[in-house]
Amino acid sequence: MHETVGAPAGDKPGEKPGEKTSNPPTNLRLGIPREVFPGERRVAITPGNVEKFKKLGFEVAVQSEAGLAAGFDDAEYVKAGALIVPEARALLSSADVVLKVRAPSPGEIAMLKAGAFLVSFVMPAQNPELLKQLAGAKVSTLALDAIPRTTRAQKMDVLSSMANLAGYRAVVEAAAAFSRPFTGQITAAGKMPPAKIMIIGAGVAGLAAIGAGRALGAIVRAFDTRPEVKDQITSMGAEFLELNFHEDGTGEGGYAKVMSPEFIKAEMELFANQAKEVDIIITTALIPGIKAPVLITAAMVESMRRGSVIVDMAAEQGGNCELTRPGQVAIVHGVSIIGFTDLASRMASQASQLLGNNMFNLIESMCGKGKNEVKAFHIDLEDDIVRPALVTHGSDVTWPPPKKTVPPGIVNPAPKTAAAIPATQAAKPKSGHGAKSGPAKGSKVAVFWLIASGILWWLGTVAPAEFLNHLTVFVLACFVGWQVVWNVTPALHTPLMSVTNAISGIIVVGAMLQISGPVDHISTWLAAVAVLVATINISGGFLVTQRMLKMFRR
Ligand code: NAI
Repeated sequence: MHETVGAPAGDKPGEKPGEKTSNPPTNLRLGIPREVFPGERRVAITPGNVEKFKKLGFEVAVQSEAGLAAGFDDAEYVKAGALIVPEARALLSSADVVLKVRAPSPGEIAMLKAGAFLVSFVMPAQNPELLKQLAGAKVSTLALDAIPRTTRAQKMDVLSSMANLAGYRAVVEAAAAFSRPFTGQITAAGKMPPAKIMIIGAGVAGLAAIGAGRALGAIVRAFDTRPEVKDQITSMGAEFLELNFHEDGTGEGGYAKVMSPEFIKAEMELFANQAKEVDIIITTALIPGIKAPVLITAAMVESMRRGSVIVDMAAEQGGNCELTRPGQVAIVHGVSIIGFTDLASRMASQASQLLGNNMFNLIESMCGKGKNEVKAFHIDLEDDIVRPALVTHGSDVTWPPPKKTVPPGIVNPAPKTAAAIPATQAAKPKSGHGAKSGPAKGSKVAVFWLIASGILWWLGTVAPAEFLNHLTVFVLACFVGWQVVWNVTPALHTPLMSVTNAISGIIVVGAMLQISGPVDHISTWLAAVAVLVATINISGGFLVTQRMLKMFRR
């Protein structure tokens, strides 16, 4: 039942807005068109991804030569099990799920079949007209650039994978345009000072640029409005430029917030001073959805030494430098201002591999996994990754998503919006615990504490003093443990895990001493259970830590 893919909520008979639209697991056609955007070399998935999609139950159709510019020819896709379709129209009009890199052109939208599901870059805030066209064509669209930067979404975070590559490439482009090596040297023929790089914005691209600049031997300085990145900057061997102005730039969902005009003025004074000193400026400052702030003025460019380079990574969003020409290299007063908007595409093979993996992880997450869950591909409007990124659903424009605060690195369960709650559920009074009204709940709690106090009083009169001591420690430990664990920011769960590992170690030692008692005694068995559970916690903790460390290892 292909037609149900991306069908507007409530379009299926008996389906209410917010309910899952589901499909059988097989025979959905995945379409990968050739990119038509001028200069775009990336392809949405590589032959390496084809087999994995087939295992999910998709039939994979790739437009002829779609991967050629990225280094993957048709034969490789065929070998992986894909079907090659010569024409865009035949491909787009037959695909249930379309994966592409750049936002579709009006011509491509016209070829998409009604009810199809499209995944691509969209930039919804900047492209309201595009959203109207997609909704007009009854296409459900997931914008890759609107996937929230949360822990769960990391493996689908296309913006991060592309920014990481682009940050590296920005340094390579700067090195190519710069007339000196980055590393300092003293040779028989003379002294070469190391290049000095200033990086504005230490998000994903900025940090990658710091890494590449340091690796090439340059002296790197970086500035960001979010104070928490200071440690990341210094740990990568760069200097954090301090500003004597206190305003926290941390915004929602792991991104920065718009700074006050006073702050921007103060940071621009800092950049004006730095411009006279540094050889390279790489700017990445951006707040998603709005025009990039202009931080490097024409006067600053003029104050730079001839032969200096500026790489403006925010060129596509208007640019951080006043003189940037998007997509071009402008040379002003001997300073090269690089405004390339296709830095990731310049490493198309690697970029496509990362993109393809991100796409696969996304689509896989949209196919149920659990025994009782719908296994097929479906659009879950309550999913905290899918909903924020779903910009059109059937004939509705669903951007912007309902407001929700997601602190950096944290995934909260999505609050059910009116649209996301099935009407039947919304109308029904809830049953069970949570359904009780305030006073009824209050009296239940009072009864519970009355009974608990009675039991404790009774224990106090009959139990030996030693038992009461142990009980007091146990109750306090439960209370303190609960408060500690539930009040820890999820971003700090890794250090917390180390602490719980240490506690589990103490439990194992204590339980091993206890285990040597008589076999028929209950404490021996309790000790054995304690050893088992604590060991699971310790080894699980080490496994998770190992996985996290692997992510940072070179
Ligand atoms: P990000 O959101 O991770 O990082 C942006 C950083 O800029 C944040 O750390 C933020 O705190 C900082 N920032 C915001 N306003 C600032 C200000 N006024 N002063 C100083 N710092 C400020 O973004 P990401 O993923 O690192 O991307 C960075 C830029 O690179 C974006 O503009 C993105 O569109 C662009 N990009 C460009 C590519 C190209 O081919 N030119 C390819 C990929 C990304």
